[in-house]
Amino acid sequence: ERISEKDLNNLVVFIRDWQTEEIKFDVPEVIAGDPTAGEKLYNLKCLNCHGEAGAGRLKMGPALSNPEYLKYTSDKQIWISAAYGRENTSMGSSLKGLEGVRQLKEEEISDIVSYIRSIKPNEK
Ligand code: HEC
Repeated sequence: ERISEKDLNNLVVFIRDWQTEEIKFDVPEVIAGDPTAGEKLYNLKCLNCHGEAGAGRLKMGPALSNPEYLKYTSDKQIWISAAYGRENTSMGSSLKGLEGVRQLKEEEISDIVSYIRSIKPNEK
């Protein structure tokens, strides 16, 4: 039996976070935020490292509006990275209630994910 693309994506996320610890990811079933609100939050909380409109910043944060990245990354994966951060990197957790400097609510993270999704590749 062939493994589905969804399972494969889940597996990739799982393996990526393998070394970290056993975190039970709590992700909204449907990620349908408000991209306009998300843009404001992004500019406040993420732009410093990830650049204008997700273009990325050298030595600070990888590009998020990269078409290849967006093609192979699900909303849930983006949500998880934003909410829980990446261990041992400057990418800290954003989810309120977790230790982190950004302290966003679940809906706010969904707004940001919807904004990132809405960025057109060549938009500045
Ligand atoms: C202090 C700098 C910094 C800030 C602020 C920051 N990030 Fe990051 N982010 C990083 C770095 C560095 C990485 C790469 C981590 C790694 O090596 O895995 C990253 C990774 C990510 C990833 C995973 C990218 C991938 O390749 O899978 C996402 C998604 C992300 N950040 C979203 C956000 C969002 C949304 C915000 C705002 C709420 C934010 N980040 C704020 C530095 C930052």
